[in-house]
Amino acid sequence: SKSTVKAGLLQDLHQLLPHSSSPSLPGPPGFYLIGNMMELTHDHLPIHLNHLAQRYGNIYRLKCGNTTMVVLNSSEVIREALVKKWSDFAGRPVSYTGDIVSGGGHTISLGDYNEEWRAHRRLVHSALQRCCQQSLHSVIERQALHLRKVLMDYQGNAVDLSEDFTVAASNVITTLAFGKEYEKSSSELQQLHSCLNEIVALWGSSWISALDSFPLLRKLPNPVFSRLLKEVAKRDEIIKKHLNNYKSQDNRNEDAITGSLLQGLDKQHNTAHGVLLTDIHVHMATVDLLIGGTETTAAWLNWTVAFLLHKPEVQTKVYKEMCTVLEGRYPKYSDRHRLPILSALINEVLRLRPVAPLAVPHRAIRDSSIAGYFIPKNTVIIPNLFGAHHDPAVWSDPYNFKPERFLAGGGGSTRALIPFGGGARLCLGESVAKMELFLFTAYLLRDFHFIPPESEASLPDLRGVASVVLKVKPYTVVACLRPEYNP
Ligand code: HEM
Repeated sequence: SKSTVKAGLLQDLHQLLPHSSSPSLPGPPGFYLIGNMMELTHDHLPIHLNHLAQRYGNIYRLKCGNTTMVVLNSSEVIREALVKKWSDFAGRPVSYTGDIVSGGGHTISLGDYNEEWRAHRRLVHSALQRCCQQSLHSVIERQALHLRKVLMDYQGNAVDLSEDFTVAASNVITTLAFGKEYEKSSSELQQLHSCLNEIVALWGSSWISALDSFPLLRKLPNPVFSRLLKEVAKRDEIIKKHLNNYKSQDNRNEDAITGSLLQGLDKQHNTAHGVLLTDIHVHMATVDLLIGGTETTAAWLNWTVAFLLHKPEVQTKVYKEMCTVLEGRYPKYSDRHRLPILSALINEVLRLRPVAPLAVPHRAIRDSSIAGYFIPKNTVIIPNLFGAHHDPAVWSDPYNFKPERFLAGGGGSTRALIPFGGGARLCLGESVAKMELFLFTAYLLRDFHFIPPESEASLPDLRGVASVVLKVKPYTVVACLRPEYNP
């Protein structure tokens, strides 16, 4: 009968699919109870995970307490999980400390995959898109010109530009979010950043992650955890003040994302699936944009200048290309296809130093498979983007800075480049980030020539410090104004 044939086919199909009896995942041996926890405490975790990939392959498992983690180290396996099988791996691990940092799982970045999260992400995505179409270009241009002034005021002195890059990136986000920008010296800005940075740093510390794996530790006094709670409360107070300020303004900036989000809350579509989005979702979306959009972009700019100090000839080539194509004017984002050398530089820095090197951990929301291995529900998936960008099977001379690999005939494949992740959890700010990287770099390299300070015996250390964001170690640089543009 028809139903017996159907049952038979299903059984055959089941046997073809990987399941619990498929080959077990390779991985380093672990110690009882703590498993492979020590593997996760390395200084530069992405590089360490890459070394393990050389021994165990592009997909392997680590055990931590009773959690199994699967580390993916090539763009092929990462794409299989995040893009092709996105609906199996769109979850986030739910954790005790993650819940505290995300206001009970209400951020987009840490919220688990469900109807409420989908409605939240959709709401923020469309508000962001609307705002980007209307004002993003001019918001970035304004910050790039402001950065130009700040650099000119240094008058050729050797300085560390990391804070100026943070202020520029942060002002893009705060202007988008509530139509407000700050001076570097503003105490409000400093308070906000020190608080967000503290939260990210504390949350990444092993004092805190131990609380997730070993619940008994929650009963003991933990000063690091108390500090985390204090910073989260401070963060919420600052954001609340901004949102209330925005709401109370008579002539509020209607282009701002906050406005779109508040309007969106009232619309019917949010309740279509029985989901009710509220002020807390607007609040936590602001946290997402500020955390996601500030240190990442700033770290990337810092890396770009550091690499250019090592290879000054790349700086000259980008400058010459801009002179020829733009004939003296400032670039628009629409010029990017006519500036292949600049685009190649941007891609090569994204490849070598993906600033979110391990993305954000995913969680299997049902039994599935990757590369033929059975992956049970609730497995934590770590996409090692840094590893994928250094895969010798895809990139020739993977550890060397060679922007020319992305020029025609250079062999570099933008398809294998995945600095923003992919699928349902693709970086929400990808289009904001891409426009920022392009315009900030183009404005900086059109007007300035970056050189190492004479007093400095060595160039910036390019190994980096990896936590949630991969940053370059502090260094100083001299920004010389190009004489052609000296007003
Ligand atoms: C998530 C990269 C800039 C907002 C992510 C993820 C990566 C990433 C790898 C995790 C994807 C995953 O879980 O698989 C980057 C890079 C940036 C950048 C390389 C700049 C160079 C930004 C900006 C914003 C932003 C400017 C905000 C305007 C977010 C948010 C998420 C996210 C909200 C969470 C998405 C979700 O869980 O659904 N980003 N990002 N990012 N990013 Fe970005």
